[in-house]
Amino acid sequence: MARAERLICGSAALRDAGPGVRFEVEYFGEAAPAFVVRWEGRVYGYLNRCAHMPMELDWNPGDFFGIEARDLVCSTHGAVYAVTDGRCLGGPCAGAPLVRLDVVERDGAIYFLGIEDDG
Ligand code: FES
Repeated sequence: MARAERLICGSAALRDAGPGVRFEVEYFGEAAPAFVVRWEGRVYGYLNRCAHMPMELDWNPGDFFGIEARDLVCSTHGAVYAVTDGRCLGGPCAGAPLVRLDVVERDGAIYFLGIEDDG
């Protein structure tokens, strides 16, 4: 089934390894926080929910990268996730990944298409 795409933000809102843009998605019938970030030119999106406990990751709104600006880091207990696929790289996530979003960048804007494991 085709999924409707929804505008998240303009492309200029995301700079490489800089602050992300927060937005909401519907996940199992409820509003859930989500975000997009840019890394090495590409845009990646995830639910803003740590795999350790259902806490938002960012330490200030939109701040998802660790101090080396390379990985995504949960501000609560320090779980580390790969920005390219959300896999757990270390810490309390214990191998559990972030929930990935389908996002696309086209014509100067970034769109949400759906949640990868939500059918
Ligand atoms: S809630 Fe994210 S590491 Fe514990």
